Amino acid sequence: MRDRIVVGNWKMNKDFEETEKMLTQLKSYSKPSGAKIMIAPSFTQLYQSVQSLKSTNIYVAAQNIGIAESGAYTGEVSPKMLKGVGVNTVIIGHSERRNIFQENDNFLTKKIKIALESDIMVIFCLGEKLEDRISKNHFEIVSQQLKKTIFNLSYKSMTNIILAYEPVWAIGTGETATAAQAQEMHFYIRNLISSHFNSKIADNISILYGGSVKPENAKEIFSESDVDGGLIGGASLNAEDFMKIANSF
Ligand code: 13P
Repeated sequence: MRDRIVVGNWKMNKDFEETEKMLTQLKSYSKPSGAKIMIAPSFTQLYQSVQSLKSTNIYVAAQNIGIAESGAYTGEVSPKMLKGVGVNTVIIGHSERRNIFQENDNFLTKKIKIALESDIMVIFCLGEKLEDRISKNHFEIVSQQLKKTIFNLSYKSMTNIILAYEPVWAIGTGETATAAQAQEMHFYIRNLISSHFNSKIADNISILYGGSVKPENAKEIFSESDVDGGLIGGASLNAEDFMKIANSF
């Protein structure tokens, strides 16, 4: 059975002090039995978070990774640096990286490969923009995103991939995909994975939904058979809300 996972993507929020407070709060909640929980703070807060959560079942992921093992890449962070502070998971391909920082599928594939070579689990994000949904192009966009990235990986690598469907129009807008819209796209993605790789890989891969997930709507979205959890932005900045979401299975 595939993992149920809830990941808090803090984006560019929470400095040292705010992270200390948040970590204390997170530890005060009992861990939900049904899901694996992760938080993804900024690079500067990774070591602090890993140390603080050591004896808990809350894992720490990075929000980004460099494209090489080391070298002249000003501003970048290597897989070895992440592993050195105890981080074994990374988010790649978030729409903010694609749209604000112009990261394309080719570049993202390099990141996926360098992470996997270092045994770092990848949470790979994909999803269409509003105009794609309006023009009913959303399935084709998501299919192309998969073909240009994940479909270049080996069968074996797929055990270290988690997918996150994040329709761009639902990110930070308060507008959520309906549970039916999420299920429809997750089912479509799983079928593509099955056709390209095989049904075992498709059955085992966790596909998370992201886009304005809140304590009020998490249960309905997570109850869909192909939705295996969530990638949470805004609501993950509040410990109580985040833990409520993590308890929504
Ligand atoms: P929101 O939950 O704030 O819409 O953000 C979703 C997201 O981008 C998670 O990666």
